[in-house]
Amino acid sequence: MNPAAPDGAVPRGTATPDPQARPVPGRVVVVGQGYVGLSLAVRAAASGYQVVGHDVDKERVSRLITGDSYVEDVSSARLLPLLASGAYRAGRDPADCEGFDIAVITVPTPLRDGLPDLSHIVESARMLGGHLRAGATVVLESTTYPGTTEELVAPLLEEASGLVAGRDFHLGYSPERIDPGNTRWRLDNTPKVVSGVNAASLERVTDFYGSIVDTTVQVSSCRTAEMAKLLENTFRHVNIALVNELATFAHDLDVDVWEAIDAAATKPHGFLRFLPGPGVGGHCLPIDPSYLSWWAERTAGRTFRFVELANDVNGRMPDYVVRRLTDGLRRRGRKVKGARVLLLGLAYKANTSDARETPAARIAELLLALGADVSAADPHVARSVPPASGVLDGVLRVTAGERELSAADAVVLLADHDAFDYGLIAERSAYVLDCRRRLGGDNIDVL
Ligand SMILES: NC(=O)c1ccc[n+]([C@@H]2O[C@H](COP(=O)([O-])OP(=O)(O)OC[C@H]3O[C@@H](n4cnc5c(N)ncnc54)[C@H](O)[C@@H]3O)[C@@H](O)[C@H]2O)c1
Repeated sequence: MNPAAPDGAVPRGTATPDPQARPVPGRVVVVGQGYVGLSLAVRAAASGYQVVGHDVDKERVSRLITGDSYVEDVSSARLLPLLASGAYRAGRDPADCEGFDIAVITVPTPLRDGLPDLSHIVESARMLGGHLRAGATVVLESTTYPGTTEELVAPLLEEASGLVAGRDFHLGYSPERIDPGNTRWRLDNTPKVVSGVNAASLERVTDFYGSIVDTTVQVSSCRTAEMAKLLENTFRHVNIALVNELATFAHDLDVDVWEAIDAAATKPHGFLRFLPGPGVGGHCLPIDPSYLSWWAERTAGRTFRFVELANDVNGRMPDYVVRRLTDGLRRRGRKVKGARVLLLGLAYKANTSDARETPAARIAELLLALGADVSAADPHVARSVPPASGVLDGVLRVTAGERELSAADAVVLLADHDAFDYGLIAERSAYVLDCRRRLGGDNIDVL
């Protein structure tokens, strides 16, 4: 399908929507009520749309129906009035999706055996296709490789509906840039890249997002929008790998990499500040760049070396953390075997409950294999909801209180949540390996 053909030229660049031109809000279906989908559904409902949040997860839907949000960026206090007014409702029954004006797909795009797994997108497109009416709009938001909207989603919708994308219904791609826990950059004030399979689709997609976010950025094709998202995540992945590898060298050469990064960051142009850490996690960095790599290899026959290298460097960071911890304990006359190690922060980064693909799981696994007695404290990650890796199930969950800190032979700061008492940690811990440079003192080693 030629994205720009049927309706003529597609505008480019940044477009700030004209409020006068906003359409009359209609019926919106958001398929997938996770970090991305629930945030979007609630934002659309608050903007005047009638929203159905559709999800296949029974427990999640039951919680949403009672106004119990499991996504920290969406408080229950925000959800409850929208439920009460009927602007938002959650459900598992595909029949609830009947008659939508706009449907947005925000389902997971994981890797299976290292390869893209688009089964959730396929299921969603088939389901929506059965409820698709002429004139409606479908948008894919899930992160995926270039070509997915036109080559996979369009034919599935067409087959299930008997309608033609771009002619009978509108179709586009708009990547999500949600950053869990970030209160400065939210869905509404983060510019949203929008695309369509043709000019009319682009206009509809822009109108929809223009009515719920401050700024939309139009691009000329769905492939461009799909690639923009992968570029953003790969850029971050590669730059984190760069400073992670540098951190390992700098330590061996007795140079303070954190100070060097701060010094470099005083350059007002041509430098962006990325910081080392215990490894990458979440849905984006450990997974999305591999979509780009897979796509490049499939289409161009060449591996994407930057992605492969970044995967390798970032994937080794948990091993490096354990090596540093083992060294630190040895210098203090202790063996890792039998040592009491307290991990602080199971989430993959500060101030979020997101523990998907968290490096803490691999670090715990390695320490347990070495015979350490591992416990963990994270005020954000619920004890009752096991994070991505089952290994954390075997780790005793505690609070980061005076008693626990004093009892540990080593404390490892992995996610620097604001909720931790850093004064207490520095004061009470015999030894801390600080992977986030939050602390200083003789008993502290910084990664
Ligand atoms: N979390 C982020 O920070 C983030 C940021 C940008 C982009 N993304 C992308 O957005 C997409 C969704 O990510 P997320 O973090 O919201 O995932 P999530 O796992 O938090 O939520 C996805 C939801 O989709 C539901 N689901 C799965 N298959 C379904 C189906 N067939 N029909 C209905 N519901 C279904 C799941 O039950 C789950 O509740 C992914 O492609 C991800 O890469 C995520």
